[in-house]
Amino acid sequence: MERLQKVIANSGYCSRRKAEEYIQNGKVLVNGKMITELGYKVSKDEVISVNGTVLENHEKEYILLYKPRGIITSNKDEKGRKTVIDLIHTNNRIYPVGRLDYDTSGLLLLTNDGILANLLMHPKMHIPKTYIAKVNGMVPPVVLKKLCNGVVIDHKKTGKAKAKVKKYDKKTNTSIVELTIYEGRNHQVKKMFETFDYKVLKLKREKYSFLTLDGLSSGQYRHLTIKEVKKLYSEVIEK
Ligand code: URA
Repeated sequence: MERLQKVIANSGYCSRRKAEEYIQNGKVLVNGKMITELGYKVSKDEVISVNGTVLENHEKEYILLYKPRGIITSNKDEKGRKTVIDLIHTNNRIYPVGRLDYDTSGLLLLTNDGILANLLMHPKMHIPKTYIAKVNGMVPPVVLKKLCNGVVIDHKKTGKAKAKVKKYDKKTNTSIVELTIYEGRNHQVKKMFETFDYKVLKLKREKYSFLTLDGLSSGQYRHLTIKEVKKLYSEVIEK
């Protein structure tokens, strides 16, 4: 049994504070009965509605998606473009944990567990994210070193990172660089390379914390195991 406002917030419908407001204002029904008491506890099989919307099964769901390029990381797109949610069959209201650009592929977590999602996205958690970037030109050690020590993007220095060149293709004059960052700023990888006038031609996230894309092809997804969910929690709770 869990407190009603917590169940509503965990479903992703709204924040816990907002849920409390809805409860107090008589906007929440449990099995069709209005509940205005904040301490009210509900079990898994009770039907909860908020503002007339029935919350889908409030079981927690954790999905690891291999996001293809050309898909929006969002629940809805005003231009009607395909979103990551369109790729997943679920009755739950799930949300992406952070975002990957439209033209970035790779590992994206989605969940209706708002607590874990917020913890993972919190900047102080420093969750490692490993990207493979194809960039124009050759990337010398001095640039790698600067990428690792931090560069200024949007008036703020990036944190420590790890970078190595995996391959240089003489014919196309392009490099494949593996970059691990511990933050999640907007277009961070592209902007980090841009500070040295490199253009990221292709970008893929290969790793998120200990999770990888192993066994998945582009567009496929799988549910995390309980062990993986616990491990993710332990990564953020110990910090
Ligand atoms: N950095 C970027 O520039 N783009 C992404 O999609 C992810 C990280």
